[in-house]
Amino acid sequence: MDIIEKIIISEEEIAEIVKRLGKEISKDYEGKNILLICLLKGSILFLTDLMRQLTVPCKVDFMLASSYKGGTKKSGVGVEIKDGLSIDIKDQDVLIVEDILESGYTLKHIVNILSKRSPKSLKICTLLDKPKLRATDIEADYVGKIIPNDFVLGYGLDYDEYYRNLPFIGIINPKYL
Ligand code: IMP
Ligand code: MG
Repeated sequence: MDIIEKIIISEEEIAEIVKRLGKEISKDYEGKNILLICLLKGSILFLTDLMRQLTVPCKVDFMLASSYKGGTKKSGVGVEIKDGLSIDIKDQDVLIVEDILESGYTLKHIVNILSKRSPKSLKICTLLDKPKLRATDIEADYVGKIIPNDFVLGYGLDYDEYYRNLPFIGIINPKYL
């Protein structure tokens, strides 16, 4: 596939990572209920796989967050959040489910919004982490895999809204950048 320079996480490895995260989270939240907040759109595949690995009761809700406008370029106008939550998060154990943590601006924004609504607890689970690109003090409580700075796509992650359906995660061919 021309758009992919190299597959960095295979379908099998994704399944292993998600299984491990599911175990860790289920153990930490034993005796509690979790409210999973999925950040659309990139986290949809991760959410649906992760929730099937949880052994504790969970509810799901969604928020739309976008920081990239077209291709791989940041919008430069900050993070756009569409708060479509239908569940009141007050006194709930909230776990934010994110596809990838980079600068942290997106999650900083989301955490600011959600923490004002008095959740009982608020934690972050990210499938991928690019710690070298961090520009905020945001860190995730659960990290699937640390990856290099390259732009990646597949398994929910898009390039210009496409390729979210690829079952693996790959680095983009630089000729598209
Ligand atoms: P941050 O706000 O800089 O932490 O960026 C996080 C958001 O940017 C994620 O929610 C993704 O939607 C998007 N993003 C960051 N890196 C990538 C990438 O390599 N591929 C696709 N989307 C990315
Ligand atoms: Mg995202």
